[in-house]
Amino acid sequence: MVSIFMGEQPPEPTTDGGTDSGEELEARLAAGESYDPPESFVEQANVNDPEIYEEFEENWPDCWERAADLLTWFEDYETVLEDDDAPFYRWFTGGEVNASYNCLDRHVETGGKNRAAIKWEGELGETRTYTYGDLLYEVEAFATALRDLGVAEDDVVTLYMPMIPELPIAMLACARIGAPHSVVFAGFSADALATRMNAADSEYLVTCDGYYRRGDALNHKEKADKGLRGVEQDVETVIVDRLGDELNHFLGEHAHDYDELVRAHEGASVEPVSRDAEDMLFLMYTSGTTGQPKGVKHTTGGYLSYAAWTTHAVLDVKPEDTYWCAADIGWITGHSYIVYGPLALGTTTMMYEGTPDYPEKDRLWELLEKNDVDIFYTAPTAIRAFMKWGKQYPEGRDLSSLRLLGTVGEPINPRAWQWYYDHIGGGECPIVDTWWQTETGGMMITTLPGVGEMKPGAAGPPLPGIDAQVVDAVGGPVDPGNAGYLTVRRPWPGMLRTLYNNDDRFINEYWREYSDEDADEWVYFPEDGAKLDEDGYITILGRVDDVINVSGHRLGTMEIESAIVGVDGVAEAAVVGGDHDVKGNAVYAYVILEDGQDPTESMRDRIVGGVEDAIGPIARPEAVVFTPELPKTRSGKIMRRLLEDIASGEELGETSTLRNPEVVEDIAESVGE
Ligand code: WTA
Repeated sequence: MVSIFMGEQPPEPTTDGGTDSGEELEARLAAGESYDPPESFVEQANVNDPEIYEEFEENWPDCWERAADLLTWFEDYETVLEDDDAPFYRWFTGGEVNASYNCLDRHVETGGKNRAAIKWEGELGETRTYTYGDLLYEVEAFATALRDLGVAEDDVVTLYMPMIPELPIAMLACARIGAPHSVVFAGFSADALATRMNAADSEYLVTCDGYYRRGDALNHKEKADKGLRGVEQDVETVIVDRLGDELNHFLGEHAHDYDELVRAHEGASVEPVSRDAEDMLFLMYTSGTTGQPKGVKHTTGGYLSYAAWTTHAVLDVKPEDTYWCAADIGWITGHSYIVYGPLALGTTTMMYEGTPDYPEKDRLWELLEKNDVDIFYTAPTAIRAFMKWGKQYPEGRDLSSLRLLGTVGEPINPRAWQWYYDHIGGGECPIVDTWWQTETGGMMITTLPGVGEMKPGAAGPPLPGIDAQVVDAVGGPVDPGNAGYLTVRRPWPGMLRTLYNNDDRFINEYWREYSDEDADEWVYFPEDGAKLDEDGYITILGRVDDVINVSGHRLGTMEIESAIVGVDGVAEAAVVGGDHDVKGNAVYAYVILEDGQDPTESMRDRIVGGVEDAIGPIARPEAVVFTPELPKTRSGKIMRRLLEDIASGEELGETSTLRNPEVVEDIAESVGE
């Protein structure tokens, strides 16, 4: 059997840092233990007045002027919200604005020219720092070059790049000339690139020769070239030379070298074009329930205001901070919280090219220490990996510069929350558990770190001005403590405006389920399950497309997973529903243990017990399958469909798109045993 963790560091006996066993801790936390942010944090917080919730409520939708006021507008907007064509809402109409101007020029004009805008570190340890002055200079040169290549306002430019500074530079260059970008995650395949370029009718591509992963030079251009062969329209391509001599590449017809273009246009100045608030800033393709990716459309005024506002209010970012969101810019988190939000506020944003465990498992903590990072934002899956590797890695570094921690992307189980709080935050940093989506543009549900107490495992209340409610299948209220569906009943500035070229799908996917269209009452459905507690805190249970029905009871697979990863010795778990004659669905749990833990009967019993304790006997796994790895897509998402097929004893579907196809048969064999 393959295992990426084989032969590595022995596990810690306990990873929670205390004398409690993991289960006791989980139970204690589940019982509602809450934490107040430290007084010293509250005093300095950008937002620390609890009245803000009421103020936004009483003053809705004009409260959103507070977000728009964080930007510099070329032309003031006339109306905050226009809803006559709902759910095609329009925000800050009549306003004129440019994102590149807001992220660069205005900081240079107000004394920030020499402040670091981007601090980048490559996997091999090379570093680059761009001040706001440097960044503006290069963005202007590249924006001029793009224009020379023929890019006109409203042309979609596709960016297919890993975590190198030229990616945000290209984004801002596009924004400067009013050309929407469509960033395709570098880990996506050639086919995925082609599908997205075709869907957006994009005639321009910026990519690179390659990049480093675990010390090896990866050839990225090969993938881009292959993708281009599947694109119907003619494409002009720009190639960034990331690897130098390490990977020589040939520039064919319609291909241009990034450095040469920038050198040829050095010193050029380009007026940032005045964009209507509702003009598209970018497209971001995201997966839906069908195979065809959805082109989520975000606008210039509403999106940028919302990204800036949430970075200010939730991430507490100040210009003098060094802030690090350890996500990839190829996803929405990187767009909103590596690039647009932090740069709009004039702070220093960090970028790291590589993997967190190369060359050592303390790479992130080393970077954090070296750069005196104030704010750190990552995903629960990363935190669970850090836990698995052990607390000795962060303990070997000085992390005392940290003031605030954040998580995003999936529910965080209380034990991982506690580990993050203790071992990364040193028990002194508030944690914001931020729920949002590609479609929402920015954070929607989280505590305000300068205002609210934190409850491990619950994201928190909806942000001021956001009306999120948990409802039952027909839209009725759900009692606190019971599971239901998350809905959003009022629009917000960062919302998607439509799916590119597909208004019908936009309505069908997000608005059909709970709206009363005849009454013109529109309710956004994010397709997540959730539950509310007595204090109005929302716990996200996961996508309802992952919900399984056991004996007529709906169970969130993520909720069960959270229970299992709460068991001492468990590193990761995936739960799916397998066909069952009597129950409809039975719970199948695929479990990865921490290094050095054995897949014994007693471990199995503890897992089953953990699930029974956390949710009830109804969620008891029918089978617990120990495996060293889970089948994952190249973008890192667990392929649940395959696990369901295995659980149901069905023929296995396509595995070639997996990052680790070999693991599937291993798992299938152990289930069959
Ligand atoms: C999930 C990522 C629980 C959720 C920004 C949502 C979360 C999906 C959280 C969107 C959180 C995101 N707690 N679940 N704090 N944040 N999710 O579009 O299921 O990649 O619908 O956006 O991630 O994923 P997306």
